[in-house]
Amino acid sequence: MKFGVIGAGQMGGGIAQVAAQSGFDVVVQDVHESSLEKGKNTILKSLTKLFEKGKISDAPETVLARIQFTTLLEDFADCDLVVEAIIENESLKLDLFQKLGQIVKPEGLLASNTSSIPITRLATASGRPEQFIGMHFMNPVPLMALVEVIRGYSTSNATTEFVVDVAKQMGKTPIECNDFPGFVSNRILMPMINEAIQCVMEGVATPEAIDGIMKLGMNHPMGPLTLADFIGLDTCLAIMEVLHQGLGDDKYRPSPLLRKMVQAGLYGRKSGRGFYTY
Ligand code: CAA
Repeated sequence: MKFGVIGAGQMGGGIAQVAAQSGFDVVVQDVHESSLEKGKNTILKSLTKLFEKGKISDAPETVLARIQFTTLLEDFADCDLVVEAIIENESLKLDLFQKLGQIVKPEGLLASNTSSIPITRLATASGRPEQFIGMHFMNPVPLMALVEVIRGYSTSNATTEFVVDVAKQMGKTPIECNDFPGFVSNRILMPMINEAIQCVMEGVATPEAIDGIMKLGMNHPMGPLTLADFIGLDTCLAIMEVLHQGLGDDKYRPSPLLRKMVQAGLYGRKSGRGFYTY
C-alpha cells in the first residue's frame, strides 16, 4: 500500500508519521524544501518520544525511512490513497484536486483532511467523485484516536470500506458521517469554542476561569480557549464562517472578538499569542 500525503505541516506530518508507523510506504509533498525539513524534524521528535515511552516498537529512523519527502505532485502517480492536508483555502484545494485527478493512477483514491470545506465540492473538482472521501484526523494526530470519515454525495461503498480499513490499520477508530457543514466534529465543537470567546467578550469570566470551569466541571482535557489557541484562531474563524454561511443560521455567527483577534494577528500557539501567551 502506497500512501500519499499533501502538506508537511502539523496535520500532514502527523498523518504521514502514523501511516509510516503502520508500515505503509509514504510519500509526503510540500511546496518548499524548508517545510519538508521542518516536518521531518517534528516527525522525528514525536517518534523518538513515542519510542522512548515504548508506545512504538520500530526505531524512529526505521519508521522515518518509510517516508519519501518531495516537492513534486508527480510522485503521487502510483499511490493507492492520497490524503490532502494543506491550509483551509478552498480555491487552493480545488486546484490541487483537479491536478491530482490527472496525476494519480485511475484506481487510486483521493481524500481530504479538511475540517469544514464541503467534500462533495472537492470531489467534483477531482473528476473522480466515487473515489473521493473526507478523512478528518484530529490534532495531535499521533495521539488522537478518531478519524471522522465523511462520505461525499457520490462516494462509493468500496471507497468508504477501503478508507475505514486503512484508518483501522493506522490504529485509529474511524466513525462515518455525511457531508454537511462542519461535519459532526466541528458542528458541535466550534459553537462551544465560539461561545467561550463570547463569554470573554461580555466579561462573564476570565479566560483562565472559563477554561478551569470546563476542564474541572466537564472533564475536558483542555479548556475551550486553550483548545482554540491550539487549533489556531484563524482556523476557528474559518470554520465558524463555513457553519454560518452553510447553515444560514445566525446562531453560528462568529464572535466579534474572534474576528478582531484574527485581524490583529493573534492566531494562538502558532503565532505566540492568542488567549494566552506562548
Ligand atoms: N507526539 C508524541 N507525543 C506527544 C505529542 C505528539 N505529537 N504531543 C504531545 N505529546 C506528549 C507530550 O509531550 C506529553 O509527554 P510527557 O508526558 O512525556 O511530557 C504527553 O504527550 C501528554 O501531553 P501533555 O502532558 O501535554 O498533556 P495531556 O495529557 O493533556 O495530553 C493532549 C495532551 C492529548 C493533546 C490532550 O490535552 C488532549 O486530548 N487535548 C484535546 C485535543 C483535542 O481536542 N484535539 C482535537 C482538536 S480539533 C481538531 O483537531 C480538528 C479540527 O478540525 C479543528
